Amino acid sequence: MIGRLNHVAIAVPDLDAACAQYRDALGARVGEPQDEPEHGVRVVFVELPNTKIEFLHPLGEDSPITGFLEKNPAGGIHHICYEVDDILAARDRLTETGARVLGSGEPRIGAHGKPVLFLHPKDFAGTLVELEQA
Ligand code: CO
Repeated sequence: MIGRLNHVAIAVPDLDAACAQYRDALGARVGEPQDEPEHGVRVVFVELPNTKIEFLHPLGEDSPITGFLEKNPAGGIHHICYEVDDILAARDRLTETGARVLGSGEPRIGAHGKPVLFLHPKDFAGTLVELEQA
């Protein structure tokens, strides 16, 4: 059911430092910061030949990233995102197998303007999983 790895999201305490490291040390193609107030994040996409890295930094008062960075002050992998063809079919199949979808269970529009869902990390080897309809 799942397709390509769309991105790996890394929460970072210092966005400029993370961008500089990926650009200068790793030689990666690093995009411009984008504010996403409705998600409480400032994001930067790093384009790799086969996938993307998404840096996440808190934006605003109750960002979902703030608590993560308190527990992981150096930053860390926040979630991984897999592509699916049909997000509603994917959701229904997952809930039938007992996996928990976070929030209302209805897809939201994610950082790339496409419908996304998040799955409970306890059901997926301790990893927060995002599904994006590609
Ligand atoms: Co994501």
